This record gives sequence, structure tokens and C-alpha cells, in this order.
Amino acid sequence: MGRLAYVNGRYVPHAQAMVHVEDRGYQFADGVYEVVPVIDGVLIDEEPHLDRLEYSLNELMIAWPVTRPVLKLILRELMARNGLARGIIYLQVTRGVAPRDHKFPAQAKSALVITTKRLAPPSEAVLRNGVAISSQPDIRWTRRDIKSLSLLPNVLAKQAAFEAKAFEAWLVDAQGAVTEGSSTNAWIVKGGEVVTYPKNNDILGGITRLSLLELAGRTGVKLVERSFTLAEALAADEAFITSSSAFVLPVTSIDGKKVGEGRPGPVTLQLRQIYLDNVARQIEAARRAGER
Ligand code: PDD
Repeated sequence: MGRLAYVNGRYVPHAQAMVHVEDRGYQFADGVYEVVPVIDGVLIDEEPHLDRLEYSLNELMIAWPVTRPVLKLILRELMARNGLARGIIYLQVTRGVAPRDHKFPAQAKSALVITTKRLAPPSEAVLRNGVAISSQPDIRWTRRDIKSLSLLPNVLAKQAAFEAKAFEAWLVDAQGAVTEGSSTNAWIVKGGEVVTYPKNNDILGGITRLSLLELAGRTGVKLVERSFTLAEALAADEAFITSSSAFVLPVTSIDGKKVGEGRPGPVTLQLRQIYLDNVARQIEAARRAGER
């Protein structure tokens, strides 16, 4: 049996998983999503991811498609059926299927799609060399705190970065601040201080960002949530990105110029380890709770 997807109450072969042409996600990007990492068959930071899903749904006045406990059961069932050990679970909720009309439909029931994807850990080469960044203008709307399906500016920025032979785009706003990456949060380290954009409507409040701030704060690392410019990033000692699929990845060049020594820095590697230790603790806790 091949990989399955969950589509509105049914587990269907991935290749045949489909939604209606009048799903509002398809026509208006009228929906939200989450990407939850899975390591050793355990959902990492599941509750904060579901909290953020709830926030996104509430902000857009979309109803939960199923209750939160039922969603948790479906996530586990799909992981089990797909034998997912390491990768991500993608879940998407749209306002549902209704005749095309911008205003909210009176009747539609929100629609839920869940898929899984295997992902290998980052290669030795990526961890040894770090990744390259290309700066791109931030042309998004002003509610980037909502994890909306509407990702066209992010798609364009990532494609431009790819064409510039970079791994990720850093988005620079009209004031010259680096807000975040196209699908990651952006960080720099300068003089022992770890800096990332403050959590507000200008960025997506990354769950990896949130966990790392909590974990690193406890170990005495000096953390500052403030905006920084591209020039500051270029003059930084270190830089890195965080996300549910990359965790903590060192950045060693921006627009073709070296960051610091042009090698992954010690603070970045320490933070990556702090994050991985936390993942290991969550796996251990799930095991003790009999989830694995
Ligand atoms: N991206 N900023 C943006 C714009 C993002 O899309 C993401 C996540 C992040 C990092 O958030 P988190 O740590 O919760 O993954 C920051 C996901 C992985 C994606 O779109 O695939």
C-alpha cells in the first residue's frame, strides 16, 4: 500500500487525493496550514503547532473542521498508516467548498487535508558549510502572523533565491529590516548577542523560533528580539535560520558575501544542539507515555 492522504474524513491514496474545484483554498487561498516535524515517529512541538493553527483559524473566522482531540487522533492514524518515522506532517484547513463569491459562504463546512512527507536530516555538507541567503524585497500583506495559504510573495522570493543559487531568501521590508525568510525565521549573532525580529504582525511567529527562545533563554544565551538590517547581518559574527523542517541551520553567506568567517559559528552550533536535545527529550517523553 502506497502513501495515503487524509481528505475530509477519508484516507485515500496520495496520488488520487483531490479537493473540489470550488474549494475556497483553491480559488481564494482562503485557508491556513501547519507543518509539524516528525522525528522517530513523534510529533515535535505538537501543542504549540495546534495553538498556532487555532490562532490562524480564529483570526480568519474559519471553524475547526474537527475538534482538536479528533485532529490529534487523525494525525497519529495517518502517521501510522504511512509508517512515517522522520519528516513532516502538513495540514491545511480551508473555509470549505462553495460557489465562488468573495464573501464568506453561509453554509460551507471547513475542509481538512493532511499529508505526510519523508525528509532526510540535513546532509553533513550542509551542516559543515552552512547555507547561502539571497536578499529579496518583502512584498507581503500586513498579517504575516497568520499562517495563511496565500504564499505567492514567499514563492516568488524563494524562486528568486534559487535562481541566485541560494538556499533561502531573506525578506527585506521598506525600512530596510530583514523580517524573516520565505519559509524560515532569520537570526544573527553579534558580540555574543542573538538577535531576531520581534513577534508581531510583520512575521510568522515560528514554533522553532519560540522553542529556541525558551530553551536558549534558560541556558543564559543573550537573546534580543529587535529588527536588524541587511548591513548588520553582513557585519554579524554568525547567522542562521530556523523552521520546522530545517530546525537550526547555519547561514554562511548573504548575497554572495561571507558572514563572519564564512563557516557555521559556535553559537549557532550550540543553539542547534540545544534544539536537538529538546527534540530528543520529547521523543523520550512520548516513549515513556507509551506513544511509541
Ligand atoms: N514554514 N516564517 C515563514 C514565512 C514560514 O513559512 C515558516 C514556516 C517559518 C518558520 O516557522 P516554524 O518554525 O513554525 O516552522 C517562518 C513552513 C515550514 C513551510 O511553509 O513549509
